[in-house]
Amino acid sequence: MEITHIPAGSRSATDIDALLPEVLDFDTLINRDSGLGQDFDPLPGEVRGRLLNPGEYTTTQTWIGRLDGKIVASGIAYLSLQDNLHVADVWCAVAPEHRRRGRGAELLESMEVSLRAEGRTQLTSYCEIPPSARDADPRGPNLAAESGAGSLPVDLPGVAFLIRHGFDFKQLERCSVAQTATAASLAPGDSVDLDPGYSIETWNGPTPAHRREQIAMLHQRMSTDTPGSAEFGEEESWDAARVAALDAQREAKGERLHTALALRGESAAGFTEVAHFDDRPEIGWQGSTLVAKDHRGHGLGAALKIANHVALGESSEVERVYTWNAVENSWMLAINDVAGFATWAWVGLWKKRLA
Ligand SMILES: CC(C)(COP(=O)(O)OP(=O)(O)OC[C@H]1O[C@@H](n2cnc3c(N)ncnc32)[C@H](O)[C@@H]1OP(=O)(O)O)[C@@H](O)C(=O)NCCC(=O)NCCS
Repeated sequence: MEITHIPAGSRSATDIDALLPEVLDFDTLINRDSGLGQDFDPLPGEVRGRLLNPGEYTTTQTWIGRLDGKIVASGIAYLSLQDNLHVADVWCAVAPEHRRRGRGAELLESMEVSLRAEGRTQLTSYCEIPPSARDADPRGPNLAAESGAGSLPVDLPGVAFLIRHGFDFKQLERCSVAQTATAASLAPGDSVDLDPGYSIETWNGPTPAHRREQIAMLHQRMSTDTPGSAEFGEEESWDAARVAALDAQREAKGERLHTALALRGESAAGFTEVAHFDDRPEIGWQGSTLVAKDHRGHGLGAALKIANHVALGESSEVERVYTWNAVENSWMLAINDVAGFATWAWVGLWKKRLA
């Protein structure tokens, strides 16, 4: 297999535009085979953005494997450039008709060699499993997540592959989906008791300049104050400039963000973010949600999510939102249940240390 390595920004826009249709076809093939549904098909603007634009704070590298000139495998690594310089989040896929012939192993080994040479010695990865696949053989052997909550069948391809390549199964997440209309029909005051000392502000698009410091502080807390965060990386470092740079990177990919921020006076108490893309505006993707530790227990989590869904209903075409939560995060799952979320897929989170 001929493997090409494409760090973001290493090729001209002309080269990327020539490659893009082939990459999109391959990624669509992989997604259609996964059973996750067409909402998860690749987004052209997002894929082009990650091949073309090296970020200032985070970047990606892509690997493409060809046989007889045709793409049969691809891999991606998500990298932070600001903190966690030893970590790479990797994922790879092989065309269904080329599986079980060592192509996945060959690609992952090539990725590991170049990531290790750049000092990325801790790899994280994930596998996404529709409920029908997880439940297909209830008596089959399962591997328990090290978090102590949840398990996955060991003979599913993604699971077997990661085990074979020395990854440890750390945590199980539930991916769930809600119609925004469901959440919007629950007026915040009816479904949760918001402490009168708090207020919620919502906006769409880039973070207003006077809120960047507060959003930066909440993102930094997000990297330490969520279940299992210590497993997957060290505390991230955020400031107003990083928030502005991320907003600019989003604009370039046609990604629109809707944010709800909880305030007690002028102190930031929590936030939640949902993104959608110009390429598929009816689908929303839940980003971060955090209530700062000293503000928990006041109904802010549910109030933030509901306020953001109401705003989405009023100012976007988003019809449904996907979200991911650790299964041991029963507090967050209960909030999502209030907001009308139902299970869509299971996601295993894995970690490996390179020798
Ligand atoms: C996971 C995936 C990349 C494996 O690609 P592949 O080319 O079939 O993998 P390989 O042939 O290199 O397999 C390497 C080893 O992984 C294990 N493995 C891979 N697929 C397996 C399966 N379906 N059942 C059992 N073991 C499997 C085996 O140990 C295999 O070695 P062996 O064939 O000598 O027994 C492929 O199934 C895929 O694209 N799945 C969808 C994407 C995904 O789930 N990615 C996982 C996260 S990186």
